[in-house]
Amino acid sequence: MTAQNGHRPFDVGAIRRDFPILKREVASGARLVYLDNAATSQKPVQVIAEITRYYRDHNANIHRGVHTLSMEASELYDGVREKVRAFINAPRESEVVFTRNTTESINLVAYGWGRKFLAAGDEVVISEIEHHSNIVPWQVLRDERGIVLKYIPMLPDGTLDLEYARQVIGPRTKLLAITAMSNALGTIVPLHELIPLAKAHGAVVLVDGAQSVPHMAVDVQALGADFLAFSSHKMLGPTGVGVLWGRQELLAAMDPFMSGGDMILTVTMESATWNEVPYKFEAGTPNIAGVIAFGAAIDYLQSLGMERVRAHELELVDYGLRRLGDVPGVTIYGPPDAADRGGVISFSVEDVHPHDVGQVLDSHGVAVRAGHHCAQPVMAALNVPATVRASFYIYNTPAEIDVLAGAIEEANRYFGVLSA
Ligand code: ALA
Repeated sequence: MTAQNGHRPFDVGAIRRDFPILKREVASGARLVYLDNAATSQKPVQVIAEITRYYRDHNANIHRGVHTLSMEASELYDGVREKVRAFINAPRESEVVFTRNTTESINLVAYGWGRKFLAAGDEVVISEIEHHSNIVPWQVLRDERGIVLKYIPMLPDGTLDLEYARQVIGPRTKLLAITAMSNALGTIVPLHELIPLAKAHGAVVLVDGAQSVPHMAVDVQALGADFLAFSSHKMLGPTGVGVLWGRQELLAAMDPFMSGGDMILTVTMESATWNEVPYKFEAGTPNIAGVIAFGAAIDYLQSLGMERVRAHELELVDYGLRRLGDVPGVTIYGPPDAADRGGVISFSVEDVHPHDVGQVLDSHGVAVRAGHHCAQPVMAALNVPATVRASFYIYNTPAEIDVLAGAIEEANRYFGVLSA
């Protein structure tokens, strides 16, 4: 609760007051309990105000005008690169590319780097717990270019088989594309073990940080990765803004993914030359307001301190595992130890379909995701069609987990009566 290292106090009550949506009721009249943060986070007033402020006071296109508004908008937009750089401790601001989302960032690597530098027979290693957005782009590349796609399997507890990883990552591995945290199960992947394995064979490493960057301190230099992809909307910022961080020399060698305005230096009717990194990857008018408001989201998280964000979620997930573990009929998937997972609990309720559980929870105001979580291979490995997923963030409380547990008990009673 006390201020440390120049951070504001981690006072959940005060944090909640910054999120007006948390005061609303859902259709049933129940107060919202928002536990779908792995899908998208809510936005604080500071971020919402920044969007309004940009449109009210500065709106203009960037990198084009000599007029005051355009220069202001350009400065605000490019100023967020430095905030992102500092947030992930990247060496250079120019290594921060703005995209639409994590999916586009991964596709940018697949198209701009993969199609240029990977040839038939080259091996790309992913894992069985990837989100579809870190599987499908590599399958498309495999079918197009004849690369070999291999994966590190998931063990029954939702962790990766590191023994197998040591065998599958080898001299033919050209790319390891791996999540830092499973969106479906919350498993924290031991990147400090996997990245050195890939690096020992000279492979490039892409980290899908969609679920880790919003929830824990991520330092790309300490990590030793080459690319990091993540999204603004899962970390208090607007939708439609993503980041690809990449090492300067790799970005410089890559081809653009999209071409057109703003990414060129010169154009004649015959040919064109590319702008420098990062602009050569930012064709067309970007989400200017979104990027600027993303800056306010980063400021907000920095003011709390990412170590304390992680500590808060660890407390929640530890409590949640114990609380839900006591509810009859509940099976929890993923690592048993809270320290091995982010703020995610994926579960099922005996004899009740996850979508039905989701509906009963909604009638109690509890928002969760029910489905395959864009990670169908994880569902296949668990041999379930779907799960219910509760995912936490800075504004969630143990009392909300109690509401969740009570609502599951209610679902149990309701469907138990139906099936009796
Ligand atoms: N990838 C997001 C999720 O896990 C949408 O829900």
